[in-house]
Amino acid sequence: MSRSAHPAGPRHADVLPEGHYSAPPADLNALDEKVWSRTVTRDADGALTVGGIAVARLAEEFGTPAYFLDESDFRARCRAWADAFGPDADVFYAGKAFLSRAVVRWLTEEGLNLDVCSGGELTTALDAGMPAERIAFHGNNKTVAEIERAVGAGVGRIVLDSFQEIVRVAHIAQRHGIRQRVQIRVTVGVEAHTHEFIATAHEDQKFGIALAGGQAAEAVRRALSLDGLDLIGVHSHIGSQIFDMAGFEVSARRVVQLLAEIRDEHGVELPEIDLGGGLGIAYTSDDDPREPHEIAKALSDIVTRECEAAKLRTPRISVEPGRAIVGPTAFTLYEVGTIKPLEGLRTYVSVDGGMSDNIRTALYDAEYSVALVSRTSDAEPMLVRVVGKHCESGDIVVKDAFLPADLAPGDLIAVPATGAYCRSMASNYNHALRPPVVAVRDGEARVIVRRETEEDLLRLDVG
Ligand code: LLP
Repeated sequence: MSRSAHPAGPRHADVLPEGHYSAPPADLNALDEKVWSRTVTRDADGALTVGGIAVARLAEEFGTPAYFLDESDFRARCRAWADAFGPDADVFYAGKAFLSRAVVRWLTEEGLNLDVCSGGELTTALDAGMPAERIAFHGNNKTVAEIERAVGAGVGRIVLDSFQEIVRVAHIAQRHGIRQRVQIRVTVGVEAHTHEFIATAHEDQKFGIALAGGQAAEAVRRALSLDGLDLIGVHSHIGSQIFDMAGFEVSARRVVQLLAEIRDEHGVELPEIDLGGGLGIAYTSDDDPREPHEIAKALSDIVTRECEAAKLRTPRISVEPGRAIVGPTAFTLYEVGTIKPLEGLRTYVSVDGGMSDNIRTALYDAEYSVALVSRTSDAEPMLVRVVGKHCESGDIVVKDAFLPADLAPGDLIAVPATGAYCRSMASNYNHALRPPVVAVRDGEARVIVRRETEEDLLRLDVG
C-alpha cells in the first residue's frame, strides 16, 4: 500500500469553513460505541475488527465498498426490542430499512414480526419462512395483485391506506372466503423528525386517512360494514429519526380519542393500536437515542394514561422500528482513492463508492461519522468531506468530519450506522455495482447479499 505525499489540507487550528461539524474529537482513533456496532473494536495493530475479524481481511476477501453487518448485534437488538415491549405488545421490524432472506430468518428466530410494504418484500419474507400471520402489509398504493398475494398467503394484517383500498381488500378477502384482519392507517396531524415535532397541519401528505374532518371515522364506518374485513385497530406513523417522545404522545392521544369515538358510535372497542416506527439512532456522537426499554415504557405509559382518561380498555400496542434495529449494526467499508486538499476550505477524500451505496446524505442532508480503520494514526485532525466516485458534485457520503492528516490512498475508512436505508436505497447510478452485504459473527463472515456484477447489469439490458 503506497502512501503518496499530498499537500497539507486545512487543520483544526486553521480558520474552519462553515459546516455541521463541531470541534475535532480529542482522539481520532477512538471508536464511539454509540455509532459503531457492538462487536466493533480495534485489535493490537490498531485495525478495526468486527465479529473478531479485521477489516483488512474483510476487504481482501469481499472487496470494497461493502456493508458489514454485525449479526450478533442485530439479534441482540431484536431481543432488546422484544423484551422491552414484552408479551402484551408486538414488535414489527420495518423491512424497508434493510431486508434479505438471512435477516428474515434472524427475525423469525428472535421472535419478531415483520412489516413489508411491497410485493418484493412480501416475497422475500415468505420465501425465507416468516410465518404469514406475523407479517403486516403496508403501502399507500398496493396493487390488486399484491393484495391478492397477501390475502392468499394469509398475512396477519393489512394496513389500509385509502378508501379505495378498503373496498379492494374486502372484495379480495371475500373471494378467498376469509375475513382479513386489517388496521386503518390514520394521519394524526403530527409530523416528527429528529428533535422536533409539529402537531398541526401535516395532513398534507400521501399516507393514511386524515383524522381531521372526520375522514378516519368514515373509513372505520365503511370497514366495519364490510364482511370481508376484520378491523382490529388503528395505525399511525409520524416520522423518522425521532428522539423526542412528545410527537408520539400527541399521536397516541389522538388515536385513543378515535378509539373512544368508535366505541361511542359503534359499541366496539378496537383491540389494537400501532404507533409505527421512526425511532432515532446515533449517526454521530451528537445523537443520543433512547434505549428500547425507555421507549416501551414511555409509549405504554402514554397509551395507558390516555385510555384511562377515555375509559377504554388498554389496547395491545405494536411498533415498527426499522432503523433502530438494523441501522447501528452495519458499517460501510471504503478504500480511499484520491485526496484533494482545497486551501482554506477542506480536503476532499474520494472513496470507491458514493451516492449509489448511500443516498441519504445527498437526499436528506444526513450526517454521518467516518474513521480511518485499517490502522491508527497520531497525525493531527484534518477537516474532510468524504465523497464518492459518481458524476455529480452532490455525491457526498460524509459532509463534514475529521480524519488524520496522514490519510493516504489505499487506506480503508468506514462509515458507521449504515445498516438502514443504505443498501435498501442503493442504485446503479453510473452503472455502479451495488455492494454486497456481509454478515459477520463470531469470527465468521458470509455474504448475505452478493455484490452485483457487470453480468448482472448486462443481463437486465436486453439490447
Ligand atoms: N412503519 C411505517 C409505516 C413507516 O412508514 C416506516 C418508515 C417505518 C415503520 C420504519 O421507520 P424507521 O423506524 O426505520 O425510521 N428513507 C428514509 C426513511 C423513510 C422511512 C419511511 N417509513 C431514511 O433513509 O431516513
